[in-house]
Amino acid sequence: MERILLIGSGGREHALSAALLRSTSCEKLWVAPGNPGIARDAECVQLNASDHLAVAKFCLKNNVTLVVIGPEQPLAEGLADALREENIDVFGPSQAAAQLESSKGFSKDFMARHHIPTAPYRRFTSAQHADARAYAAEHALPVVVKYDGLAAGKGVVVATTHGEALDAIDMMYDGVFGDDGIVIEGFLSGQEASVFAICDGRDMITLAPAQDHKRIGDGDTGKNTGGMGAYAPAPIVTASHRETIRERIVRPLLEGMHEEGTPFIGCLFCGLMIDGDDVNVVEFNVRFGDPETQAVLSVLDADVAALFASAARGSLDASTVRSTQIGYACNVVLASKGYPDAYAKGLPITGIDLAEADPHVIVYHAGTTEVDGELRSNGGRVLGVTATADTLRDAVARSYMAVDKISFDGKVFRIDIAAKAL
Ligand code: AMP
Ligand code: GLY
Repeated sequence: MERILLIGSGGREHALSAALLRSTSCEKLWVAPGNPGIARDAECVQLNASDHLAVAKFCLKNNVTLVVIGPEQPLAEGLADALREENIDVFGPSQAAAQLESSKGFSKDFMARHHIPTAPYRRFTSAQHADARAYAAEHALPVVVKYDGLAAGKGVVVATTHGEALDAIDMMYDGVFGDDGIVIEGFLSGQEASVFAICDGRDMITLAPAQDHKRIGDGDTGKNTGGMGAYAPAPIVTASHRETIRERIVRPLLEGMHEEGTPFIGCLFCGLMIDGDDVNVVEFNVRFGDPETQAVLSVLDADVAALFASAARGSLDASTVRSTQIGYACNVVLASKGYPDAYAKGLPITGIDLAEADPHVIVYHAGTTEVDGELRSNGGRVLGVTATADTLRDAVARSYMAVDKISFDGKVFRIDIAAKAL
């Protein structure tokens, strides 16, 4: 039986906590810091994930057998390494392996070394501003300019003119994100998909493919966000693509990371571009995606606690998974008006109980808080309304029926989640 500490506070962590609580191997779950939705079923604790000593002390004091790390920041800061030094098992990569996400340049160089399909690119250091400009000025359009380090999802510009590309380069060299340099790469066309692989350093289990909806507006218009909705499994990813993803992308990654002395343990998030039979990597993340997780875990029939624990201990146990895709799931994000720019907080939320009267619906909390026992909005993405059904069409219809039952001032959402697949 596992005594688990989950790190994080978003919709992704609410879905992870729900999946861990459904697991027969989970004896006890703490979530740090969690959110009001998570607190309904798990014990939330105030721990600062940047204070590695405090997290380790909590684990030792409470006989925690497994730590699951949700977000990228604590992984990039080396929380997993600090805990492993105390012999605490962790589902999440080391700081060195987390560079697959924290440095786009590292990730691209790694893919090049191991022949993992991705867009052609060049990497420029913080001292190569002029070289980067010259390279971009000659590049075919569209051209993609990426800040090398973590930039909270804001470090990528797909430029359709050379002027736009040069402006993006100047902005990134201006130090807004830091001084990590940039990557300039070719444009990939096709449809994006997200595939998560549960990895133990050598072996993997891939979960149901999902599609995110990154833009704020219907029809993929307007600004980029953290993600406005997702569904799984995404039919655009065929059985043949899945085989390609396993054998040409995840397998060489695991072998390469192992050879280089930085084995990958945790959830590998493959951000992919699918174009006909071709699959290219747009990016790797070293954690579950948000909002894809809310959909992917809804169609996963597994003892997730035992699955993560086996991966953390280097001996992935496939028998913990009964099915990676039972039916379909759709997750519609309810955001605050103004997001991804400035938005109001503290607005009272009602109707979650009505939405959840349907046993196939779960409302995952993302940006919520409780004030005097009343639930209020507290973030850009507020809730993720997730429904399951035997068909995608029914899952989508159920999600939107539940969406209509929830109210808060300035509630915005996309009406076309999964429309591409229907
Ligand atoms: P990333 O943070 O690298 O995933 O980039 C954010 C978004 O920019 C991706 O989800 C894509 O929509 C887009 N993007 C990034 N790289 C490329 C590329 N090489 N070709 C086309 N679109 C891209
Ligand atoms: N859904 C995209 C991400 O989690 O980065």
